Amino acid sequence: MIIVIDFGSQTAHLINRRIRDLGVESRVVSYKISLEKLKNLKGIILSGGPSFVNLPNSPTISKKVFSLGVPVLGICYGMQLMGKILGGEVGKGKNKEFGVVEVDLKKSKLFKGINGKQQVLMSHGDQVLRLPPGFINLGSSKDVPNVAMGKEKLLAIQFHPEVIHTKNGIKILKNFIFNICLARKDFNQLKWQKSEIKGRAICGLSGGIDSSTAAALVYQVIGRQLKCVYVDTGLMRLGETVQIEKDFKKFFKEDLIIIRAEKQFLEALKGVEEPEEKRKIIGNLFIKLFEAEAKKWGAKWLVQGTIYPDVIESAPTSLKLRGVSAETIKSHHNVAGLPEEMKLKLIEPLRDLYKDEVRQLAAKLGLPKNIIKRQPFPGPGLAIRIRGEVTKERLDRLRQADKILQEEIKEPVWQTFAIYVPLKTTGVKGDGRSFEDMIAIRSVTAKDAMTADWTRLPYKLLAKASARIVNEVAGINRVVYDITTKPPATMEWE
Ligand code: XMP
Repeated sequence: MIIVIDFGSQTAHLINRRIRDLGVESRVVSYKISLEKLKNLKGIILSGGPSFVNLPNSPTISKKVFSLGVPVLGICYGMQLMGKILGGEVGKGKNKEFGVVEVDLKKSKLFKGINGKQQVLMSHGDQVLRLPPGFINLGSSKDVPNVAMGKEKLLAIQFHPEVIHTKNGIKILKNFIFNICLARKDFNQLKWQKSEIKGRAICGLSGGIDSSTAAALVYQVIGRQLKCVYVDTGLMRLGETVQIEKDFKKFFKEDLIIIRAEKQFLEALKGVEEPEEKRKIIGNLFIKLFEAEAKKWGAKWLVQGTIYPDVIESAPTSLKLRGVSAETIKSHHNVAGLPEEMKLKLIEPLRDLYKDEVRQLAAKLGLPKNIIKRQPFPGPGLAIRIRGEVTKERLDRLRQADKILQEEIKEPVWQTFAIYVPLKTTGVKGDGRSFEDMIAIRSVTAKDAMTADWTRLPYKLLAKASARIVNEVAGINRVVYDITTKPPATMEWE
């Protein structure tokens, strides 16, 4: 296994991902990791980071890391740390480098097949001014004499090989991993999981790709020790529960448990208008139902489909960087919204993966296409698409309006959905006055869930959907189109 030691880098996780893409097992760990855990590895990578090695409390590691006999590759801050710890000199040079820079890399094992002039991405203020004893220079740029250095299996580069702007970055990582670490290409998600789960487990299936993939993966590892629980909350879209049950039954057979809990959810949500309160009620009820199932089954583990972007979004530090505290956005009910006193132990096999990796894995595991292609749908379901109190009548109207919208939409975008707005406005239906609720249409395009733009849906499509909604859905006399970006709005209305 390769370990990426993280010094607070934005891209430590990306380095990890690149290594896994090359077929080698890899993990990101904090720089506070004990020396003991770094023995018997194939290789160690020291990430970049925002600090300066000469500051008194900057993150660091033991000098002994460099004498374990394990190959080490320092990247950016990692290079400077290696330089300083091993007796070189680090400081500000004449110039700083930020952006794409041309470097000249020397013939060496690390740069095998790519040595010479090329473009790389730099982002640094400090640099290694004097190499540590025994090290040789492996490359330079116009402004920085030491952009790469090495001494046997200790190697370092000032630039970032993990980002696409460094043209031969992947080749450099490949050289390090296969020619210097002598790692083997045998990374396999299934094997990786085996050591993590012992005994019986249950998994809450929402019908979304993440929980389905997590369940399928764990199912491959522990087989019938896993029970998958789908909760029919009554908060799903038209026909969705029937379809999901059909798809999952094929995959999990007798190990699929379906809990009919519409009544319980509607009862618990009665009279509740505040979005965060709704989310908490729903999250708690889910966990209560899962815990009851786990007790029946004797399971100690709860499998969750948390993926890497969820971890970032729920992490208070990343939110603080954006000027908000974790509480003020919304509690996604995996990660941040779990009750504190939950008795089950969590297993999150997708915690390190990005969405596209999850999709690839889902396909490999043979999950039905319907599930792999599904648009994201929030855990609390339609409850958070009804602004205010959730009632059966509002749910039924929203389901009908949403179905019409889905029928009219031809181009797939990130998400397109209807929202029930219980705000009465005046209209005219037939010859009489109407005073009824409204439906909002929301359609967003996004690369990830952090930011989004509203989709410019064709007027013709909007006109048809609007006409059909006011004609076919009882109690609705107005349709509005949400034209707000995220931020400041979020995708969902609650
Ligand atoms: P927001 O509304 O935060 O939504 O801009 C971003 C994406 O996340 C989905 N979403 C959720 N997914 N549990 C989930 O599993 C939740 O509680 C939840 N809330 C929002 C939303 O549909 C969008 O894709």
